Amino acid sequence: MTKKKTQKKTKEKTKAKSQKKNKSKTLKFNYAPALESTKVEILEKYGNFIGGEFVAPKTGKYFDTVNPADGKKLASLALSGSADVDLAVKAARKAFKSEWSQLTGSERGKFLFRIARIIQERSRELAVLETLDGGKPIKESRDVDIPLVAQHFFYNAGWADKLDYLVPGKKVKPIGVCGQIIPWNFPMLMLAWKIAPALAAGNTVVLKPAEQTSLTALKFAEICQEAGLPKGVVNIITGAGETGAALVDHKDVNKIAFTGSTDIGKLIARNAGKTNKKLTMELGGKSANIVFADAAIDQAVEGIVAGIFFNQGHVCCAGSRLLIEESVKDLVIKKLKARMKQIRVGAPLDKNTDLGAINSKEQLKKIRDLVKQGQKEGGEFWQVETVLPTRGNFFAPCLFMDQSGSSTIAREEVFGPVLSVSTFRTPDEAIAKANDTNYGLAAGIWSEKGSKVHMVASKLKAGIIWANTYNKFDATSPFGGFKESGYGREGGRHGVLPYVEVE
Ligand code: NAI
Ligand code: MG
Repeated sequence: MTKKKTQKKTKEKTKAKSQKKNKSKTLKFNYAPALESTKVEILEKYGNFIGGEFVAPKTGKYFDTVNPADGKKLASLALSGSADVDLAVKAARKAFKSEWSQLTGSERGKFLFRIARIIQERSRELAVLETLDGGKPIKESRDVDIPLVAQHFFYNAGWADKLDYLVPGKKVKPIGVCGQIIPWNFPMLMLAWKIAPALAAGNTVVLKPAEQTSLTALKFAEICQEAGLPKGVVNIITGAGETGAALVDHKDVNKIAFTGSTDIGKLIARNAGKTNKKLTMELGGKSANIVFADAAIDQAVEGIVAGIFFNQGHVCCAGSRLLIEESVKDLVIKKLKARMKQIRVGAPLDKNTDLGAINSKEQLKKIRDLVKQGQKEGGEFWQVETVLPTRGNFFAPCLFMDQSGSSTIAREEVFGPVLSVSTFRTPDEAIAKANDTNYGLAAGIWSEKGSKVHMVASKLKAGIIWANTYNKFDATSPFGGFKESGYGREGGRHGVLPYVEVE
């Protein structure tokens, strides 16, 4: 035997020995961190994107955007005032009149296809930036958000030259300049839901991203430049509520599309009502996930987890109220608790993370305050015991059980990883409980019986109803609410309709 071979053999022997030893010692193990490594260029300072160029704000003021996972500053952003909004609206009006509304649908479509392809090419970079700025796990921004963003541009590009078929027998024309205001929970996806149909229909836009998460919108501005989109068709202005209010109040804006809290939605509707702007509103929710005894329980447990813990519960259509048929309550809760213990909370850029950082300090405080209030109101409170990172905004998944239907956690939108659980005995009781809310955005039904699913779905007052799944999205499918969850639809043919005038 050569020396080399003997060495190899001894090595193998020691390895086997140590593996045997390790097996008896280390029954538990932790994944090594696997951080997404794509490099993203973030400038120190960003102006607004107006008329195809980045320009410094007239206010001369800037604010910080931070990484919620460690509290560190990422960049300075323009704090825009009404003069900046005015500049953006003027650029959008000019582009609308002189160019965009004059192009044929197929020419507009080409730009949208080009944007969609660039988004696909730069998807890793966009996903990392979305996660850095907003705190959502990389596996969600990479596998859910950014692919859907590209899909919405591809899908709406297809409408651009088919608008003659949008409303059978009628001609349609664009509305003009659209003001779009979006929240921090799906920053780039909400941008796509709004910009893609608006542009396909021949409108130009001024979009204000949420102050917490503007970076991917500013990257999108770079993508518009790269695609050679005519100047002024897309304008991005950054700032907080006052900037949004200036856009709502602007006299030369023809439509406002808003996604965000119900309170601000109502305020915007009141203010825009004084002008003749068209409005679409996508607001909050307190959606019910209904589990019948005949459901595939393991599958339902996965759906419950996806319904409320996906994206830290920062989801307007989150399945935040779980209704379980009484006979299977103990079984579902046992399996649910076991599954919740497996949720990995931590560094958003780690590929193994299931639940990332809460988007802002303010949101973390809101969740903590509501949970404290819930604990005072009684019932059972159970939270996963896990070690949370010491820096940044983190909150462990939890649930409340056996609270009254009038309790805070059962009624208010927490917008965090907090589940409210109650039971029912008959389908009618489940329907009544599910509908007992001011909201009406989504619902989930879990049952092996198709007829029961259809019967229950037809009686639920919710815009989106999932059967034996939850939180699944598609660009071809309309999304929107009933009651205080808003009006108007986004996605599908329905999502293009609010961006046209029917002649
Ligand atoms: P928000 O409704 O204040 O913010 C959404 C967007 O509206 C942001 O771009 C913001 O700058 C803008 N905005 C704020 N005030 C405005 C005004 N007066 N005029 C025009 N635009 C204005 O939501 P916020 O404060 O970030 O979150 C508060 C709560 O709202 C959350 O805790 C959550 O419960 C809920 N929320 C619901 C969302 C949904 O998709 N249903 C999204 C974000 C928040
Ligand atoms: Mg706010």
